[in-house]
Amino acid sequence: TEGGSREAKRRAGERAAEEIDDGDVVGLGTGSTAAHAIRAIGRAVDDGLTVRGIPTSFQSRQLALEVGIPLSCLDAVDGIDIAIDGADQIADDPDASGFGALVKGGGGAQTREKLVDSAADRFVVVADPSKLSETLEQSVPLEVLPDAHALVADEIRRIGGEPTLRDATHKDGPVVTDNGNLLLDCAFGEIDAPDELATRLSSVPGVVEHGLFVGMADAAYVGTDEGVEMREY
Ligand code: A5P
Repeated sequence: TEGGSREAKRRAGERAAEEIDDGDVVGLGTGSTAAHAIRAIGRAVDDGLTVRGIPTSFQSRQLALEVGIPLSCLDAVDGIDIAIDGADQIADDPDASGFGALVKGGGGAQTREKLVDSAADRFVVVADPSKLSETLEQSVPLEVLPDAHALVADEIRRIGGEPTLRDATHKDGPVVTDNGNLLLDCAFGEIDAPDELATRLSSVPGVVEHGLFVGMADAAYVGTDEGVEMREY
């Protein structure tokens, strides 16, 4: 998504990239905010930093190649030291149990993002203030097997959600993910218990992965027009 202030996103991405140590294996997130981190890592590599990047999408792979970050694969590394990734919404009430829970998948990349972000020793979210919300209320993207989309949509309605098959803008028909699947954006209104909804969504046959990331983020850098705010979870 291209909303929010570009400067705020840049500050967040660049600050997070400063956390990277020489020799790290780094998860490279998807979206316009994570892209600022990837560009900063590329500049650090030019200046002599040694890292291996694990992309979370075709988009982050392309950008990493463009800026000269050496890449590796999930099955070729011995763990991931740090992942830096964006979010579509961040639960920002420190007194609520879901503090730091995320909605991701606005770019349709949540399956690979969840693999990489959850495998990382440290997962850092980068965002601008427009992503912060007391309660998560954004539609939750589900990556679904093409054959199963109607069945999954029925099940989502049964548990109180409103599913919409994501349509492509530059192609007739639906968006097809990097993995060849479809996306259902599911509106649930205010999500008071993201952990419970996450468990329910994971149990629906045909759902490859959903965009609720609960208890996964270790910290968030939120860029503002003046500087960067940090949250530790
Ligand atoms: C990709 O599927 C999402 O999870 C992204 O991380 C998210 O859309 C963030 O993008 P922006 O940083 O461009 O808002």
